[in-house]
Amino acid sequence: MPGGFPTRMSQQLRYRLSHAVETTSRPPIPQAYAWAERYKPTPGRPLLDMSQGVPGTPPPKIFLDTLSQTSANPQYCGYVPNAGEPALRKAVVEEMKVAYGEHVDLRMEDVAITAGCNMAFAASIMTVAESGDEVILPVPWYFNHEMTLTSLGIKPITLQTFPEDGFLPSPEKCEHLITSKTKAIVLVTPNNPTGAIYPPSLLASFATLARSRNIALILDETYRDFLPAGSAPHYLFNPSKPSTSSTTSRAHDLPSDWVWRETLIHLFSFSKSYCIPGHRVGLICASPALMPLLNIALDNIQICAPRPPQMALAGMLDTLRPFVRSTAEAVRRRHEIFAQSIQDRSNSSGWRWEIGAQGGYYAFVKHPFKDVSARDVCERLAVEMGVVTLPAGFFGPEHHGEDEADEMKGVDKRWIRFSVANIDDEKVRLVCDRLGECVEKFGWAVESRTK
Ligand SMILES: Cc1ncc(COP(=O)(O)O)c(C=O)c1O
Repeated sequence: MPGGFPTRMSQQLRYRLSHAVETTSRPPIPQAYAWAERYKPTPGRPLLDMSQGVPGTPPPKIFLDTLSQTSANPQYCGYVPNAGEPALRKAVVEEMKVAYGEHVDLRMEDVAITAGCNMAFAASIMTVAESGDEVILPVPWYFNHEMTLTSLGIKPITLQTFPEDGFLPSPEKCEHLITSKTKAIVLVTPNNPTGAIYPPSLLASFATLARSRNIALILDETYRDFLPAGSAPHYLFNPSKPSTSSTTSRAHDLPSDWVWRETLIHLFSFSKSYCIPGHRVGLICASPALMPLLNIALDNIQICAPRPPQMALAGMLDTLRPFVRSTAEAVRRRHEIFAQSIQDRSNSSGWRWEIGAQGGYYAFVKHPFKDVSARDVCERLAVEMGVVTLPAGFFGPEHHGEDEADEMKGVDKRWIRFSVANIDDEKVRLVCDRLGECVEKFGWAVESRTK
């Protein structure tokens, strides 16, 4: 039954439902929480939740104090223009100059504030594509991207990524997937779920491809601030500098007459960097030429993003910079602890949990059990070991219902996403202890290490 649950709900209703939404995959997080509920925690063995990508720490007090004031201000109870508070849009441009370089070509008119990055994606895709169109998504994908597409009747076209490539998508393979119906390529870097960090040169290749085929490149950079300190996310916002010698001699592999506004739609979330997912703030950075249509989509689905957090953030993005940096540094250290602890546990025996990629919030890990699906392992990890994670199949085309298989086409079925940001350093070590313990407890055959 492709696509899921066509009749279950409509049988209880006297009206017909949207076929597109009814056949959209169900969000997978509740499945993981259902497993977690079956675990019986004790004070000595608490539940360790590495499933959903949520910040493990609250925002700084200075932000909460400012938010209390803006929330109590009657002035901010009203609507604001669709694109958001001008003060925040200006402040965002200044922050983007810190992230992408002082000389980037960005203006406040390029920025629209949204009620979170999922909203940013939904509004962007509504302006670019419609029912019957195709949009290319690397697999494993961020499930809300696929779900938004199918809810709108847009066909996700899968661009498989592979562990041997570090889960980086191939522009050459992508080119073969482009048809007359293709409207956009969507990339996420650092990636959810794999944690893979796409190098600037790869992003330049995708940008060049999208431009040459007259399609949009939608770049979700929700985890941008978690890149290692000092590394540039990409150079796509650099101003074009026509070259005299060659059309591609401009720095960073972009065509010499690259103009980002013609091709790129950048998305960002305040949820992770500022630890405020519940306040719902995100943004779209795109050509002002897109804004009239974007305003239609935004007006229909949100009118405007919540004003009090916008006003609180507007005056303090620069003040919050050290907080964002130190949070990212803490997550980076936790990745190291996770990698080292996994290696220590694996070393003592002939099996191992193998990390395929790490970055942003996530580590993508291959379990050691022979011929056992990641879904089965995740279920037992949650129910018996109190470690909650998500199998890779939840991030791919096979995830169409609770009971269906979780395999990724052509890729080993054993990959599992661990959200490293959710828990503290000590709990990360505990998780690794339990990953070691479960090998004996589960009693499944394990694959011995080859190197
Ligand atoms: C890649 C990606 N985009 C968007 C979002 C959603 O962000 P927001 O909370 O801003 O809607 C997430 C959240 O996990 C994500 O991983």
